[in-house]
Amino acid sequence: MPKKILVLSGSPKKNGNTATLIGWVSEGARAQGAEVEIVNTAFLKYKTAGCTSCRVCQGIQEYECAVKDEAQPVLKKMANVDAVVFATPLYFFGASAQIKLIFDRMFSLYKWDNETDAFTTPLKGKTLAVVASAYEDVGLDALEKPFALTANYTGMKFMSLLVPNAGVSGNVKNLKGVREKAIRFGKKIA
Ligand SMILES: Cc1cc2nc3c(=O)[nH]c(=O)nc-3n(C[C@H](O)[C@H](O)[C@H](O)COP(=O)(O)O)c2cc1C
Repeated sequence: MPKKILVLSGSPKKNGNTATLIGWVSEGARAQGAEVEIVNTAFLKYKTAGCTSCRVCQGIQEYECAVKDEAQPVLKKMANVDAVVFATPLYFFGASAQIKLIFDRMFSLYKWDNETDAFTTPLKGKTLAVVASAYEDVGLDALEKPFALTANYTGMKFMSLLVPNAGVSGNVKNLKGVREKAIRFGKKIA
């Protein structure tokens, strides 16, 4: 069975550095036979500004977000792939707000059992990967941390491709060796 990989972009730049990195990572993953689907979450139509903590998801059987908008089927897809890749530019030493909007709604993929103080999730055993770039070389470690902690907490394998000194949107294409590194990273995910 080919590996299924869902790539979520959080960049508002359709042809920027994040898009370029996603292209290279996908190229590597596809070369290994993986099926890659790319969703740019920056252009999804949302009904709410992030997770509203309504907790409807905690009272139902399905691992499903109760907010019926364009993010809902994407969240559902996360439960049915082998790897989820969050791709984002560094915005003020963290991930973009666009990626955070969907990241928080992953709450619907966990079910807490207050009696046992434990949770179940279909994400367990899958891979969570981060692909991020920054203009300078400060802050990508801070961006990576919440994703790494979430992966660890959830029983997911964590991987990251961090590209500092990528410059402005479109410039990552000019960096030596990054394409090869990104393709290798894609192959590793697959
Ligand atoms: C709102 C905003 C905040 C940014 N914050 C940082 C930052 O804190 N540190 C940094 O090195 N680059 C920062 N950048 C630059 C981007 O992270 C960098 O150019 C990235 O590679 C752009 O990716 P994109 O083309 O996919 O948008 C910022 C850019 C924007 C638009």
